Amino acid sequence: SLRRSTNVVWQETDVTRVIRCQQKGQQPLTLWFTGLSGSGKSTLANEVEKRLVSLGHHTMLLDGDNVRHGLNKNLGFKESDRVENIRRIAEVAKLMNDGGLITLTSFISPYESDRYNARRIIGEEYIEIFVSTPLEVCEERDVKGLYKKARAGEIPNFTGITSPYEAPENPEIEIDTSKYSLEEATDLVVKQIMKYLD
Ligand code: PPS
Repeated sequence: SLRRSTNVVWQETDVTRVIRCQQKGQQPLTLWFTGLSGSGKSTLANEVEKRLVSLGHHTMLLDGDNVRHGLNKNLGFKESDRVENIRRIAEVAKLMNDGGLITLTSFISPYESDRYNARRIIGEEYIEIFVSTPLEVCEERDVKGLYKKARAGEIPNFTGITSPYEAPENPEIEIDTSKYSLEEATDLVVKQIMKYLD
């Protein structure tokens, strides 16, 4: 099962998830941003978090580049490492939901099977936000200069170039950041998130 390892028994606590959420006065969610490098997912997740905080919500943002400097610093970009990266993020997001927080995650999460697994780990709190900015636009932006390096063969397994990105088929929310200003995109996403917050 998902929770139990051999000879390890799940421990119930007196302060439950329900109590933690009641104290914060909110429904926990995991807002799972997925998209290519340079699609704008981190920028958008950051703005959405700011908006939620200004509305009085309690949040936590997990970002690819940052988590890879700490929790997941032993992981690279080969398939098995990306799988483990996403599995750990999903488990951490669930723990934060248990703590009553609205968690925002910003990882490429290129594989459908890993996102499916994240949804299974997190449960009904999982809201997938597909940042569907086309590859051409991401490559044109090339904020970090990584696409240029990848095309030059200097970065192996680069998503969209030499490693696959499996686009979500049924995301709860989809946004192409090349069609809107950051403010418009934030408005659109937050408006849809509100449907999941009672
Ligand atoms: S994944 O696929 O979900 O495990 O990736 P993630 O943890 O989100 O990390 C993506 C960021 O790492 C940088 N980077 C690479 N991305 C894709 N492929 C390769 N080979 C790679 N090497 C380094 C890149 O800056 C990504 O940042 P974002 O914010 O997505 O642009």
